[in-house]
Amino acid sequence: KEKRFGIIERYREFLPVTENTPKLTLHEGDTPLIHAASLSAELGINLYVKYEGLNPTGSFKDRGMVMAVAKAVEEGSKTIMCASTGNTSAAAAAYAARAGLRCIVLIPSGNISLGKLAQAIIYGAEVIAIDGNFDEALDIVRDITAKEPITLVNSVNPYRIEGQKTSAFEICDVLEQAPDILAIPVGNAGNITAYWKGFKEYKQAGKMDRLPQMYGFQADGSAPLVYGKPVPNPETVATAIRIGNPASKEGALGALQESNGLIDAVTDEEILAAYQKLASTEGVFCEPASAASIAGVMKQRKQGKIADNATVVCVLTGNGLKDPNIALSTIDGQPETVPATREAVLSLIF
Ligand code: F0G
Repeated sequence: KEKRFGIIERYREFLPVTENTPKLTLHEGDTPLIHAASLSAELGINLYVKYEGLNPTGSFKDRGMVMAVAKAVEEGSKTIMCASTGNTSAAAAAYAARAGLRCIVLIPSGNISLGKLAQAIIYGAEVIAIDGNFDEALDIVRDITAKEPITLVNSVNPYRIEGQKTSAFEICDVLEQAPDILAIPVGNAGNITAYWKGFKEYKQAGKMDRLPQMYGFQADGSAPLVYGKPVPNPETVATAIRIGNPASKEGALGALQESNGLIDAVTDEEILAAYQKLASTEGVFCEPASAASIAGVMKQRKQGKIADNATVVCVLTGNGLKDPNIALSTIDGQPETVPATREAVLSLIF
């Protein structure tokens, strides 16, 4: 049987691909949909997690970036640029390296996790840290790319949304139906826009006969869509979604309204509790921003908004290893050190 690797080959008929589009891939996509058995039992719902942290650079951004970079190459571009809280820059840097493009990334100084910064550097991107936040970085990048011969690869580039929608296809392929609810963290709001587009197109193609409700979750200190106005100084432990003025706001609001969904805020405490619980009860390690989807579902279920036994898919957008410092900060100090003897070890166990 012919193997088709990566989203461009696997979902070609749903993507803006021509015979001139390069077959770029790092084998992104085809990530596992994992049943969360103990959380399902605890919450009285049927919960799955879409583990996007298993993409080649460790986040969902690879799906959109492979498409955006392939189209940039097709159009003859030599340089790509993005603003990023870290994952977009890691993906841009990797696919630019593979395609032989120059890659420039703008990041908010001091607010990007260690793993993401390391990725952008090792893949050979030109990393510029600004003394400002993501929203300011994106403004600068939009301004520069509008005037210079540089391709913008943030999710305002429509090819990003096209690539990212393939995750909705995969969920429906596995479930052989749409879930009742798709729960997703929201930052710049590109991904919720992409999933909704994906669900609608798959239904249109006759792959299922219904659509999910879209539930978006923001961190409480960075929740412009929940509170209805931009947040000038967004704050949250979940640096990936530390965004105060989402570029794809309209797409998100459309998805929420058309799907009869909802948007809500979860606190940093709720995010970290969900993050730890998912890792220690299901064996799935995601980054804090991703856990906003789990925290949000726990909150909504407690408030009676989610029906008994509803099939819920939480999108886990990034891998926990991106941000090891947050995991370590959940314990006090370091693991206890004892002499290298059987007795000393046993004394700690019993
Ligand atoms: N989860 C993670 C791990 C992210 O990195 C992001 C966005 C989101 C959720 C939110 O997705 O922006 O489409 O609503 N990260 C961007 C970046 C902003 O630069 O990596 P969104």
